Amino acid sequence: MAVRKAVIPAAGLGTRFLPASKAIPKEMIPVVDKPGIQYAVEEAVRAGITEIVIVTSRGKDSIALHFERATELEDHLSAAGKEEALGLVKHVAGLADISYVLQEEPLGFGHAVLQGKAFVGSDAFAVIVPDEIVPEPIDDEPDLLGELIAIHDRFDASVIAVQEVSHEDISSYGVIDPEPVEDHIHRIKAMIEKPPRDEAPSDLASRGRYVLTPELFDALERTEQGVGGEIQLTDGLRLLMQQQDIYAYVHPGPIYDVGKKLDYLKASVELALRREDLGKPFREYLSARLEDL
Ligand code: UTP
Repeated sequence: MAVRKAVIPAAGLGTRFLPASKAIPKEMIPVVDKPGIQYAVEEAVRAGITEIVIVTSRGKDSIALHFERATELEDHLSAAGKEEALGLVKHVAGLADISYVLQEEPLGFGHAVLQGKAFVGSDAFAVIVPDEIVPEPIDDEPDLLGELIAIHDRFDASVIAVQEVSHEDISSYGVIDPEPVEDHIHRIKAMIEKPPRDEAPSDLASRGRYVLTPELFDALERTEQGVGGEIQLTDGLRLLMQQQDIYAYVHPGPIYDVGKKLDYLKASVELALRREDLGKPFREYLSARLEDL
């Protein structure tokens, strides 16, 4: 069955991006000229997902405002003949059917996903972490969410995106114990959240994109607090794995973690370089500037 729904958890505290995230939701911080969360919604729409729930927390009303119609602004831009700006504003409001659910307390990523249960019902669904930006594919790059949906359809099972990360950094991630199935696809034998480096079963880390069966919600309801006192999605997936196989897809393309300052800088540069309107002059600027550094 086609995957039509996505849960976008955006209720985290964003402590790694302070002070910017003190008054502005981290998901609203722009990367080039769009807030991070807009990339997530656009990615869902590209993969054919039309119904989206964003999990928010108090003080994050600007996220909903961003995706609403802004008729006064539209009228003003229209009267001023600013067609390009008008197009950008209308595009955001018309992207998808978006609803919102509040996570009362920041009890963890898994807990945030669980808030999407009523919205999702009994369908398979995608989870898109907006801190991690998957750029729109160019040339023959695979479209990550499209690949995950295709794998879900073939195996009739949950599938998560993974990438190899450096062994030094492995303790920051959910890590899988892989059993190779075919090129780029593994069956997950076990999964552990933020393992000590010497206990990591591999260097394949989960990377913010999931297509999951609805049984995950029952598993999350049975999941106890884990690392950091939070309800971790990884722990919910481990429970689900006792009932169903779960697969991992090793994404060969770029994923930028914009929740971290250094990766945010890398993402800003690389996403700008990929842009048709900005890429060429920005590349020229960077090449000239790098000679002086
Ligand atoms: P992170 O742990 O990366 O986000 O959660 P965070 O807690 O906002 O970031 P730091 O570590 O304090 O800087 C992954 C995703 O899950 C969401 C976050 O918004 C992010 O998209 N999340 C996390 C929630 O929605 N609720 C939570 O309680 C925790």
